[in-house]
Amino acid sequence: MMSRPRRILILGSTGSIGVQALSVIGQSEELELVGLSARSSWETLVEQARAFGVERVALSDAQAAEPAAAAWPDGEVLAGSEGVAELIVESGADLVLNAIVGSAGLGPTIATLGEGIDLALANKESLVAGGELVTALAQATGAQIIPVDSEHAALHQLIAAERATAGPGTIERLTITASGGPFRGMSSQQLQSVSIADALAHPTWEMGGKITIDSSTLMNKGLELIEAHHLFDVPYDRIDVVVHPQSIVHGCVALCDGAVLAHLGHPDMRVPIAYALHHPERVELPVVRLDLAAIGSLTFEPVDLETFPCLGLARAAAAAGGTAPCILNAANEVAVHAFLAGRIAFTAIAEVIEATLATIEARPLAEFEALFAADREAREVARAALDQVRPVPDRG
Ligand SMILES: NC(=O)c1ccc[n+]([C@@H]2O[C@H](COP(=O)([O-])OP(=O)(O)OC[C@H]3O[C@@H](n4cnc5c(N)ncnc54)[C@H](OP(=O)(O)O)[C@@H]3O)[C@@H](O)[C@H]2O)c1
Repeated sequence: MMSRPRRILILGSTGSIGVQALSVIGQSEELELVGLSARSSWETLVEQARAFGVERVALSDAQAAEPAAAAWPDGEVLAGSEGVAELIVESGADLVLNAIVGSAGLGPTIATLGEGIDLALANKESLVAGGELVTALAQATGAQIIPVDSEHAALHQLIAAERATAGPGTIERLTITASGGPFRGMSSQQLQSVSIADALAHPTWEMGGKITIDSSTLMNKGLELIEAHHLFDVPYDRIDVVVHPQSIVHGCVALCDGAVLAHLGHPDMRVPIAYALHHPERVELPVVRLDLAAIGSLTFEPVDLETFPCLGLARAAAAAGGTAPCILNAANEVAVHAFLAGRIAFTAIAEVIEATLATIEARPLAEFEALFAADREAREVARAALDQVRPVPDRG
């Protein structure tokens, strides 16, 4: 049991992960919230600050900070990305939960690890884009990265248990599972006419818009593959992705004696969030308990890489290394945004990413500044590619 509550700062508190993290914190005497951030949802942010007695928040959209400050004279509202960095550095937090969406989370990840503060990482994009520079920074300052993604939280637990008993070197392969998304089983032809609403209808998880689209293209598994490689230092050719529509098995670790350890649970993000916030403690949670007999059967199938090319694009970018995953991630963000805005067809998301990767040559990763430059360049190239790809199909 900890002697004083662990001080937690949540970045991206108004989103799907952020709100679920607040519910976990609200149920724990061992966690104390010391700060919150969002992009522009200032009304929700101020409400959250009042509800949790937080005195300092940040809005990365500086314009949203003005009405927030006027509406909340008792608290302090920091503005812009500098404001978010100031919030992190001056928070006195023991742990920062980064639940921002997209590569906008990279700066806050760097600021957190640079201060030597432990990081609960939901924002997989910062690890995909930042790669070994992020893990090297954590090593240099001694900060821990505890994954919040359910598959990675599963692997984190399995790997820690194995290493604690058997030591290093017994792990052969990692497996992350994919639900397959709402379009599992469809043909490329059928995918050409799916709508935004179809893509947002995820079968097993309720999440923010961007990750829901990433799940429907399977790019989410591509990002998770790269995330797993960096978190666990396992080569790409020893990380498998398998489709498991029930989302009950989250991850597996295959060992040198042929045994396979698996992590199971109902799809509920409060479980991995609580794991990361309390790590290495474990607390009781009011979630539905697993009843295998009631579930009846768990099924697994290979990924249809031809119909869902995004996972292959991610594997190729991962193999190229350097700035390639950063380019992949930036192009994906531009393409997903354009799809959600009704500008391009679903199948054009992969086309934009492929065109961007083909246009920009990957460079070795030297410093963070080069990554931010690669991200900017990839966004420009991807925006130009939007006009060259398949437009939204006519539904009339
Ligand atoms: N949702 C899940 O179940 C789930 C599961 C595993 C991993 N993840 C990962 O967790 C992260 C968050 O996902 P989510 O589904 O919670 O997203 P979300 O619901 O869209 O919420 C995103 C949060 O980030 C803030 N934000 C958006 N753009 C920003 C920017 N440019 N700068 C600073 N803050 C920004 C938003 O603030 P505003 O409200 O002001 O826009 C909001 O608080 C993603 O990396 C996702 O891949 C999510």
